[in-house]
Amino acid sequence: MSDINTARLIAAREALRYVASNYVVGVGTGSTAMLFLRELHRAVVDGRIKNVLLVPTSTETEIEILNLGLSSILRYPWQVDHIDVAIDGADEVDREKNLIKGGGAALTREKVIDYWAGGFIVIVDEAKLVDRIPSKHPIPIEVIPFAWSVVKKTLETEFGGRAVLRSGNGKRGPVVTDNGNYILDYTPNSPINPTEMEVRIKEIPGVVEVGIFSGRHVSKVIIGRLDSSIVTI
Ligand code: A5P
Repeated sequence: MSDINTARLIAAREALRYVASNYVVGVGTGSTAMLFLRELHRAVVDGRIKNVLLVPTSTETEIEILNLGLSSILRYPWQVDHIDVAIDGADEVDREKNLIKGGGAALTREKVIDYWAGGFIVIVDEAKLVDRIPSKHPIPIEVIPFAWSVVKKTLETEFGGRAVLRSGNGKRGPVVTDNGNYILDYTPNSPINPTEMEVRIKEIPGVVEVGIFSGRHVSKVIIGRLDSSIVTI
């Protein structure tokens, strides 16, 4: 396993400390969240954690839960009345716990579950830590297909920068999300206020969700480091 994957695994293992028996757990999307899911699976099989229910944040996560033989504890949002804790990855994190998410196009279901949860724990490796968001990744924005060009023009006119319709990776044409929508990847041309930008982008008609997750919704960020230590913010 590469160093980066070890750093992610360490963060994923640490997150298990925030899960107790009888919890309803929101399970995030992406490679780090999948490491957490496998750790949780092991704890359930060992009997260290009992009677948990798992609510996935994407089709990818749902399939992994099923593949692990955990169908009896898989639940959808409408089958639970709360989520105790959500454990999820991120593409970028700043010191105020603001996040960029949606590299895997799962931002909408992730935000529904992560923001609803009583506690929202983010697990990342140290390479995800940045001085300000967005730094290395654009801001993913889920839009209804009908509106993609209108949202693109509005973003570029009102805020500057450039928005690109996401495509490729095994499929011709636009990437279609779990919700049947498209993704615009938006790169602003000047620094943003994450909390304000999250709200302003959401106000554009046709936008379903934006991949800025304001730090005020994040309980804790667990950062696995390449030297195998852990830092939390
Ligand atoms: C999915 O859309 C994203 O929000 C993921 O949570 C994010 O891309 C983190 O994925 P990795 O853990 O694979 O980097």
